[in-house]
Amino acid sequence: MVRTLLKEVKEYKWASIATPLFMLLEVVMEMLIPLLMASIIDDGVNAGDIGHIYKVGGLMLVAAAIGLIGGLGGARYGAKASAGFARNLRETMFNHIQTFSFANIDKFSTAGLVTRLTTDVTNLQNAYQMVLRMMMRSPASMLCALFMAFSINARLSSIYLVAVIFLGIILFFIIRHATRYFRMAFPKYDELNASIQENVSAIRVVKAYVREDHETEKFKTASQNIYHIFVKAEHNVIFNAPLMQFTVYTCIILISWIGAKMIVVGSLTTGEMMSLLAYCMNILMSLMMLSMVFVMISMSTASIERISEVLNETSDLQNPEHPLEEVADGSITFKHVNFSYHKDSQEYVLKDINLDIHSGETIGIIGGTGSAKTSLVNLISRLYDVSSGEILVGGRDVRDYDMEALRNQVSVVLQNNVLFSGTIYDNLRWGNKDATDEECQEACRLACADDFIRAFPDGYNTYIEQGGSNVSGGQKQRLCIARALLKKPKILILDDSTSAVDTATDARIRRAFREDIPNTTKLIIAQRISSVQDADRIIVMEEGEIHGFGTHEELLASNEIYREVYESQTSGGGDFDEKAGD
Ligand SMILES: Nc1ncnc2c1ncn2[C@@H]1O[C@H](COP(=O)(O)OP(=O)(O)O)[C@@H](O)[C@H]1O
Ligand SMILES: [Mg+2]
Repeated sequence: MVRTLLKEVKEYKWASIATPLFMLLEVVMEMLIPLLMASIIDDGVNAGDIGHIYKVGGLMLVAAAIGLIGGLGGARYGAKASAGFARNLRETMFNHIQTFSFANIDKFSTAGLVTRLTTDVTNLQNAYQMVLRMMMRSPASMLCALFMAFSINARLSSIYLVAVIFLGIILFFIIRHATRYFRMAFPKYDELNASIQENVSAIRVVKAYVREDHETEKFKTASQNIYHIFVKAEHNVIFNAPLMQFTVYTCIILISWIGAKMIVVGSLTTGEMMSLLAYCMNILMSLMMLSMVFVMISMSTASIERISEVLNETSDLQNPEHPLEEVADGSITFKHVNFSYHKDSQEYVLKDINLDIHSGETIGIIGGTGSAKTSLVNLISRLYDVSSGEILVGGRDVRDYDMEALRNQVSVVLQNNVLFSGTIYDNLRWGNKDATDEECQEACRLACADDFIRAFPDGYNTYIEQGGSNVSGGQKQRLCIARALLKKPKILILDDSTSAVDTATDARIRRAFREDIPNTTKLIIAQRISSVQDADRIIVMEEGEIHGFGTHEELLASNEIYREVYESQTSGGGDFDEKAGD
C-alpha cells in the first residue's frame, strides 16, 4: 500500500534522498561544536592560550556555517520533495477518479472524494516531509550525542541512558493514547465536507426554504465533533513538553552535581562538563522529535488507507478488448434486463424489461417519480451496467462498444444537468469541441434556444456563471438540449429536459426534432402527457416494470394508469384540451 503511494515521488526522488543527507550534515556539525567548545575552555581559557581560542573559535564558526547550510538544504529539499509528492499524488488520484463510473462515485460520495484529495493528501505531505527530515536526523543525532558523551565520560553519561529509557517509555504510552484520537478525526472530515458541500452548492435552495439555521446547526455539529477529538488528542500530547523539561533539568542537576565533585578531584575537566551538558539537550530533544515522527506516521496511516482505497478502486465499467467504434443505427433492444444499483441487493430497480425500439422512432416515457425512468435510459448509454440480461444498440450489445464512442452516439440530457462557467459557445462545445459557430447556432435553433440567446447583449458570447445560475431553468434546459444535439447522435435521450419550458415552446422543439432530425431515435421522458402524446409509441413505467407500451390511442383505450394521468392532467385545465372545456 505504502509502496504504491511512494511511486508518486517520481521526479522528486533526488530531493527525497538529498533531504536526509543534508540533515545528517547538520547533525555532524552539531556534534562537533560542543567538542570544540571543550577544547576552547580546557586548552585555551584554562591554559591561557589566546591563539588556540581564536583558531578553534574560527573552526566553530565554520562548523556552524556548514551546519546551517545542512539545515537549510534539508528544509528546502524536504519541502520540495513533499510538496512535489503531494502534487503527483493528487494528479494521479484526480486522473483515476475521471475513469470512475457513476457506480464508483456513488460508493465514495462526492464529499468523500474531496476530503481524500485535499485533507488526506495534505496530511500525507506533512508526514512525508517530517519523515524525510527527522527519520534519519533524530536517531543519528541521539546516537552520536550518546556516543560522544560516553567517550568523554562513560560513568556520568549513564545518567543519559537512564533518562532516555525513562522518557522513551512514557512517550510511548502518551503517543499511543493520542494516536487513537488523531485517527478518529479524519473520517469526521468527510462529514464536515459533506455538510459544506451540500450546503454551499445548494445555498439558493437553503435560502429559499429558510433553512439557514438548520444547516448552520448541522455544520456546527460536524465541526464540533472534530474539535472534541483534537482537544482530546492534544490533552495527551501537552504532557510531552513538561515531561521533557523535567527530564532535561533533572539530568542537568545530576551532571552538574556529580560533575562538580569529579572536577574537584580532577577526574573531569570543566570543558568536558560543558560538552556533556550540551549533549544532554541533543539527546533528549532528538528523542522527543522521534516521538513526534511516530505521531505523524500513525496519523497518516488513516489517510494512506483512504487514499489507497481511491487508487485501488477500479472502474466497474471496462472497455472490451476489441471495441466497436461505430453504432450502426438508432435501434434499441432490451432483453430480459434486470438492474439494481447495488450488486448485493435483492430487490431490482428494473425488473425483466423487454423492449424493441426501431431506429428513428420517437418514444415517450411516462411514469411516477421513482418508477425507474431515469434508471432505464441510463443503461442505454452504459452509465451503469445491467445486472442480468442484455441491451442492444444498433444491433450490438452496449458492452461491445468503446464507451466514449457509444456515449458520443447516444446523447443523454441528464435529469439534473449542469452548465459550466464559460461562454455559451464554450458550453455548447462540450457536445462537440470542433463545432463551428454555425453548427452551434443550428443546434440552438432546433432546441428553441436561438431566440433568447440573441436577446442577450453578448449573444452567444454571454458568460454563463458556475452552475448556470444566470439563466432561467427553461433556458438552461434548452442549452443542455442544444449541447446534446451537437453530437449529432444516433439516439437522443431527454430525461425530463423540458419540464421548465412552456408547453408551446416544448411543442416547437418536438416539431423541430421531427422535421430536422427524423432519423435520430428520440427517447423523451416527461411528466406531461402533452409532451409525449404525439410520439410514435409511449412507454408507461410503474415500479420498475413496463406497464404499457403503445400509441397514445392504444394506451388510452387499454392502460388504466395512462388514462387516469391523462384525465387528471386534462381536467386540471393544464392543457387547452376539449375535455377541459366540457
Ligand atoms: N444512484 C442511485 N443509487 C441508488 N439508488 C438509486 C440511484 N438512483 C436512483 N435510485 C433508486 O432507483 C429507483 C428508481 O429511480 P429513478 O430511475 O431515478 O426513477 P425516476 O427517474 O422514474 O424518478 C428509486 O427507488 C431510487 O431511489
Ligand atoms: Mg428521473
